[in-house]
Amino acid sequence: MGVQKQVERKRKQSPLDRLWQWVDSRSKLTKLPRVDVPIHATNPIYCLGGITFLSFIIQGVTGMLLAVYYKPSLEMVAGTTQTEAYSSVVFIMEEVRYGALIRSLHAYSANLMIFTALLHMFRVFFTGSYKAPRELNWMAGLTLGMITLTFGFTGYLLPWTDMSKGATTIGLGMAKSLPGLGDIMGSILSGVTDADTLKRFFAFHTLILPAAFAMLLLLHFYMVKKHGISGPL
Ligand code: HEM
Repeated sequence: MGVQKQVERKRKQSPLDRLWQWVDSRSKLTKLPRVDVPIHATNPIYCLGGITFLSFIIQGVTGMLLAVYYKPSLEMVAGTTQTEAYSSVVFIMEEVRYGALIRSLHAYSANLMIFTALLHMFRVFFTGSYKAPRELNWMAGLTLGMITLTFGFTGYLLPWTDMSKGATTIGLGMAKSLPGLGDIMGSILSGVTDADTLKRFFAFHTLILPAAFAMLLLLHFYMVKKHGISGPL
């Protein structure tokens, strides 16, 4: 190609194209091996795992923003009968710019995540994708599903409303009644006082569960890559 033509082509590229070329020439991203998606796996039911992953990312981003203002404390706000936990949620809803939007996104995307994880599990089951050699990935998936439900359970208590306390009392009662593991699980989750329970639920919801989920997710994706997507029915 003549020099004139090369200059002409460069001029036609948008600044975004040039930025991408700059990044790519240094990262060699486009040199990564390409994976062709088999035609049967372009069916939308094969996107359900990916949608679950997307909602997990939304949960992470909106959760971090909520954590800037949320207070996991049962101290009373001076001159009121409200706990700091509850009033920090009211503050997010009424005072923080886009706070109500971010909290709603967190709540809707939590429901979406549970719903699509369940549908994804059905897809995997009804296409027989849990069979050898994918049994271990099925088990990793089941654990991811259980962590997803525990995210919901621990997050629901955080605003410390009558309804959230009631639901948690029932859930903890069920956990404590498990034969063998019940007592130890109950005491790990609830501690001694209500303030302990709230702090522990907050730690599980924002640190322990996300870390466990992220590690298992890496394993889940590694195994999908290793085995390739299961064949057509
Ligand atoms: C909760 C979070 C989960 C995320 C983010 C997730 C994500 C994914 C993604 C992106 C894939 C590849 C594409 C697809 O098939 O959709 C996949 C495959 C798979 N998932 Fe999940 N998954 C989750 C939960 C589960 C659950 C609950 C199960 C089953 C109990 C499960 C079992 C599997 C299996 C066996 C495969 C391989 C399927 C095949 O090769 O056809 N996953 N997962």
